[in-house]
Amino acid sequence: MTVYNVPHDFLWGVATSANQVEGAWNKDGKGMSIADCERFNPYQDLNDYQKVNDMTTAEIESAMQDKSSKSWGKRHGVDFYHYYQSDLKLLAKTGINSMRISIAWSRIFPNGDDIKPNPKGLEFYDHLFNKMNELGIQPVVTLSHYEMPLNLVLNYNSWYDPKIIDYFDRFSKVVIERYHDKVKYWIPINEIDSIIRHPYSSAGLIKDRFPNKDFKEVIYQSMHHQFVAAAKVTKYIHENYPDIKVGSMITSTMVYPYNSDPRNMLKATQVMRQSYNFSDVQLRGKYPQVLLKQMKDMGIHVKMSNEDLQLIKDNTADFVAFSYYSSVCTAYDTEGLKITKANRTTGVYNKYLPTSEWGWQIDPIGLRITLINLYDRYQKPVFIVENGLGAKDKLTPDFRIHDQYRIDYLRAHINEVLKSLSEDGIELMGYMIWGTTDMVSASTTQMSKRYGLIYVDLDDEGNGTYKRYLKDSYYWYQKLLSFKDEIP
Ligand code: BG6
Repeated sequence: MTVYNVPHDFLWGVATSANQVEGAWNKDGKGMSIADCERFNPYQDLNDYQKVNDMTTAEIESAMQDKSSKSWGKRHGVDFYHYYQSDLKLLAKTGINSMRISIAWSRIFPNGDDIKPNPKGLEFYDHLFNKMNELGIQPVVTLSHYEMPLNLVLNYNSWYDPKIIDYFDRFSKVVIERYHDKVKYWIPINEIDSIIRHPYSSAGLIKDRFPNKDFKEVIYQSMHHQFVAAAKVTKYIHENYPDIKVGSMITSTMVYPYNSDPRNMLKATQVMRQSYNFSDVQLRGKYPQVLLKQMKDMGIHVKMSNEDLQLIKDNTADFVAFSYYSSVCTAYDTEGLKITKANRTTGVYNKYLPTSEWGWQIDPIGLRITLINLYDRYQKPVFIVENGLGAKDKLTPDFRIHDQYRIDYLRAHINEVLKSLSEDGIELMGYMIWGTTDMVSASTTQMSKRYGLIYVDLDDEGNGTYKRYLKDSYYWYQKLLSFKDEIP
């Protein structure tokens, strides 16, 4: 039997976000969020993330008029709001000891700028955390996972307005104060780098609302406000609840040089460095020179007060959380090279790797390299809070789902994680599969891009019974967690 060096308190879990599973978009006082305006459209070019995700004000206004939820994937999710008890029970039976969820801001503060929280919204999370507690599942909670209240978008221009920092602060304090004894791991903002790549769906920034401004400047100014908001959350937690840990959370897509031409290696180094800009700010407490230079070269001016910079400096994150799905290559000259996509990143195709049905290349070793890179860069605990495979699953006539491809993906990635724990001298807090039940895809609003260990009978248009069925990968994870030291 192989003995792996898994810490006794390792967090084996699953992960999801409110807007992708909860549904109940207008129940019990919840306000609308940016996610509620993303519709599944069968005519979308699902590889053109820009087209799918960049909404206009007119599109939002028209979305608000439509009160149905059928094709609005993130309005119905998988109705976790009503199924959470049975879903949690099923998930607990895999042997997980932790689960990442997010709190929908617009369920607690329906308009974002309300003075008082919505009691019904709080009640839902009271029950949810109690149930998790009862089942021995430690919650890891994201405060902002692509679900900003719509009122803040339409009446304040989202994170561009510094007032949002105060509203986020109010929301964060209410939930942290209420749940501090049940939730020991908090992530202020999901994939804080994503504001640069998909500014609408990650942060509610809409280009046409800034006709006289350089939209790049709007994005970077908003990014700065997110850093300040996250630092405030960190400060509040550290000052009041010293037993709680706060994480920076980034998208980590490994980038390789296309070949050993040093010019390609340089390019890959530069691209990776850019992706670290965000965790650098949150872990090192200051803007890296390269990011400041980048903004200067773009000719944009981001307002940052000395007070902001001091706050960021004094309140750094305790751990580095990241999502990892895929890798890409890059080259100094991409002319004639095959292009590929991975989690809203574009890169050069890697001939050594297989590709998922959505064109993301599958690279378990890239996960191990990411662990080494992040740990060596910050010397702080790292945490894999998302890793999984989006695939089309088929429900057989006897209600089984034979998702061997997902098992292969997970096994290969977990294998690299375990090797890294044994051989690389890293401090790893945990590993979470992206996928509890199936959920609505963040980038494409599809149900058919399934990630879960548990199948949900629902299609892209929102038709189905919402019934749950256990996939082969569910049983596989259960087996893995009962062995712990051996990969089945
Ligand atoms: C991550 C997001 O980047 O990727 C998740 O944090 C998302 O919300 C996941 O679901 C997978 O992406 P997608 O677009 O396939 O759902």
